[in-house]
Amino acid sequence: MQEKAFLHTSSEITIDKGFVTWESPSNIALVKYWGKKEHQIPANPSISFTLSNCKTKTTLSYSKRDIGIDKYQFEVFLEGVQQDDFKPKIATFFKRIEQYVPFIKEYKYTIETSNTFPHSSGIASSASGMSALALCIMSIEKELNPNISDSDFIKKASFLARLGSGSACRSLEGDLVCWGTHKEIEGTSDLFGVTYPHKVHDNFKNYQDTILLVDKGEKQVSSTVGHNLMHNHPYAENRFQQAHDNLSKLIEVFKTGDLSGFIEIVESEALTLHAMMMTSLPYFILMKPNTLEIINKIWEFRKASGLHLCFTLDAGANVHLLYPAFEKEEVLDFINTQLVGYCQNGHYICDSTGLGANLLVD
Ligand code: PMV
Repeated sequence: MQEKAFLHTSSEITIDKGFVTWESPSNIALVKYWGKKEHQIPANPSISFTLSNCKTKTTLSYSKRDIGIDKYQFEVFLEGVQQDDFKPKIATFFKRIEQYVPFIKEYKYTIETSNTFPHSSGIASSASGMSALALCIMSIEKELNPNISDSDFIKKASFLARLGSGSACRSLEGDLVCWGTHKEIEGTSDLFGVTYPHKVHDNFKNYQDTILLVDKGEKQVSSTVGHNLMHNHPYAENRFQQAHDNLSKLIEVFKTGDLSGFIEIVESEALTLHAMMMTSLPYFILMKPNTLEIINKIWEFRKASGLHLCFTLDAGANVHLLYPAFEKEEVLDFINTQLVGYCQNGHYICDSTGLGANLLVD
């Protein structure tokens, strides 16, 4: 499938105003996307668990506008407070998607958004936020063109979300979503996320993700800067190949329920992501001392208990603890007795895999 398949066909603007509300979750990558080409095309395929509790709810109100000097006219509110600093990112998003949804410049907007997790938690809200906004825009497209099928609606929403923030294209559905062409996973595309099509063992159902908030500060490296570090990176080509290989290995792991195989791939992916940052120019260390303390505690606990707790990291210091639902009780006890002291203000968030976005008001 090519980009031109997503171009808008109907040009009749028959609706004056309306509003729509979507909620969309965050996701946590198992095989990481790190490095991109022009137009938000990933340098390698990735796969993530869609989360359930960490969500953004967005209401998009729209009304016909007179064409003025500003190309896009919108206001953004987070928890009821106007956020002018969000505007450049949204304006860039509108600019990127305009050729696919040309009606966007015919309306002015109020974007009201809220997160179920604290904005200052260091948990990225771009995946949930951009996917929720892309879905709202697709709801306007559906008003204008009611014939669009549900599967085309989701595919195009994922395509648009990708243009806002790459990983956002993996948040619309669940509970496992792939993005980026992979030769052994049919239907995969660099343009949008698709639900993982192969067999998944019950061990991976309702998988748990407890997010330990180690550092709630602003991100040290924005993801745009981070992805660019992979251009001319000495290990880039090997890393991209490794992501393909890890996805191939995961197919067997998911099929057989091999939890040890899962742990090895997921932890290696997290450490490789950080190794890429440490070996780029300029270089960064995004882990904090407590990130390493937690990792060592997890390894000790795993050895002593024989349980299947592992970690993954995003481009920051917070630690995602991943474990099967049937080990929840023992792992939560371990978190509360041994890990909570490493979290800022003892703060952590319990989440688990989920099925994606929901339309709340149409
Ligand atoms: O979607 P972006 O551009 O914010 O990049 C996200 C990159 C990682 O979170 C580090 C990995 C991933 O695949 O989600």
